[in-house]
Amino acid sequence: METIAATAQPRTGGLTVGDLMSSPVVTAGPGQTVASAADAMVLAGVGSVVVVGDPGRPVGILTERDLVRAAASGVDTRVGIVAEWMTAAPEVVAPDVSIDRALDTLARRGYRHIPVVDDGDLSGIVSMRDLMKVAQVRPAGEAAVDAPRGLKGVVVTETTVGDVRGAEGFFHYRQYDATELARTRNLEDVWALLIDGALPDDADRDAFVAELVPGRAIPAVLAPLVAEVAGRARGEGPLDGLRTVLSAVAAAERFRPTYDLDAAAIRADALRIAAVTPTVVAALHRLGRGLEPIAPRGDLGHAANYLWMVNGEVPSDEIARAVEQYLMLTVDHGFNASTFTSRVITSTGADVGAAIVGALGALSGPLHGGAPSRALDLLDAIGTPDRASDWIRDAVVRGERIMGFGHAVYKTDDPRSTLLREVAQRLGGPRAEFATQVERLIVDTLAEVKPGRQLYANVEFYAGVVMEAAGLPPELFTPTFAVSRVIGWCANVMEQAADNRIIRPSARYVGPVPPQPVPAP
Ligand SMILES: CC(C)(COP(=O)(O)OP(=O)(O)OC[C@H]1O[C@@H](n2cnc3c(N)ncnc32)[C@H](O)[C@@H]1OP(=O)(O)O)[C@@H](O)C(=O)NCCC(=O)NCCS
Repeated sequence: METIAATAQPRTGGLTVGDLMSSPVVTAGPGQTVASAADAMVLAGVGSVVVVGDPGRPVGILTERDLVRAAASGVDTRVGIVAEWMTAAPEVVAPDVSIDRALDTLARRGYRHIPVVDDGDLSGIVSMRDLMKVAQVRPAGEAAVDAPRGLKGVVVTETTVGDVRGAEGFFHYRQYDATELARTRNLEDVWALLIDGALPDDADRDAFVAELVPGRAIPAVLAPLVAEVAGRARGEGPLDGLRTVLSAVAAAERFRPTYDLDAAAIRADALRIAAVTPTVVAALHRLGRGLEPIAPRGDLGHAANYLWMVNGEVPSDEIARAVEQYLMLTVDHGFNASTFTSRVITSTGADVGAAIVGALGALSGPLHGGAPSRALDLLDAIGTPDRASDWIRDAVVRGERIMGFGHAVYKTDDPRSTLLREVAQRLGGPRAEFATQVERLIVDTLAEVKPGRQLYANVEFYAGVVMEAAGLPPELFTPTFAVSRVIGWCANVMEQAADNRIIRPSARYVGPVPPQPVPAP
């Protein structure tokens, strides 16, 4: 269990090492015997002596740990000298360094003491114990470490679900190349792989599908709520409503805290919530347009059934496969914001529904769920291939971002866009043709006006083209992304619950130094 000291607030605001250091410092000479230095430490009640040379500058530090090492080696400490056992050229700190920085340095390097040196002269010593007295919000004996803003590059857990290798343009689900899975398997296989950890054989697949098909239905008791939510949509599609209805599904199905459930029960909730998601999206979409919702069909694959529920027509195999491949390519993608959110919520022991609804909230932000429709707007704005280069150049000069290009992790072709380009070309049509024509021109122009930035088409550039060709309107683009990503969230929820530790980082308090007197009311 994490031990947090009693005081709830840190008191470090504005304090520096100089305010806290002990002075004068107990010192020893490098030629002094270890035994005499140990006597000096005992006499002064300190855990270290700073070793000073001529002219009084620190040349080393001798700590209790060094004394133990010397004693354990069998050396006669009345003969052995300090210079042989001290840590030479120790790290030192200036008196105006903040307490928090000093604490971080001590913790990271594993030091217990650092000499304080002002302009080359030893002016004091600061110990972990001194610092911990003022940083009482920190776990006892363990100092916080500053992570970069946004946690970029920070590993916060281990996973076997999958990962992204940006420099290589590669991502994988479990141990398999995700694009290869999308080329060769179906969505249910990938779903089983993520939830159960292995690709199914024919019998496993049948059993898996038989398990998830009943989960497609929205609980009948929620029909009035779904209609109500659809009626209140603000014309932005069913993404917000999906959050509300999935929350209600979890309540109607009496999802219980993952903390109280075994792995099989968590898996059942995970299958239920992912299976019902496309039905909710389609129902909200249709009701929002004044149409009757269409019940799911058990004889169709997940992607084909989704399109059936949206359009009321069984899609051609070609269209169903195109959407299925888009869904397979977007099931999971490293430790992105919504995936992390699902794990933070699960780490509290909350139910699967809470984790998924929270993840949907994270996905809804424009910096994450994105807007594949914006890439289509770009194509509309460019109009014809001959205008592409000038249009891009003008837009970049105006400081605009070209939608569907660039990626935070991929600095080469986004493997999802490579496969979706193929899918778009297979479906054909003027939009796909135009997109492939201008992609190269856009990449070349970006390389010219933003040299060295490595900007290539990302998943959104072709996602919109493929979904539009499959008959999905722009307001369904991000909800369709949620239809697949919910599967990845569920795999992460299950993994987090199986080996849980509450995710509880720290923040650095930088407000006015407390406690300030509370003004009289
Ligand atoms: C996705 C995205 C946010 C990733 O950004 P990032 O890797 O963090 O890169 P940065 O925002 O630090 O940009 C690095 C440089 O490339 C430029 N750049 C990045 N994407 C660009 C784009 N799409 N168009 C024009 N310039 C772009 C930036 O202006 C910046 O230039 P600078 O060095 O002169 O300031 C960014 O590429 C973007 O905004 N793309 C357009 C929106 C989009 O397609 N989103 C869907 C993503 S799946």
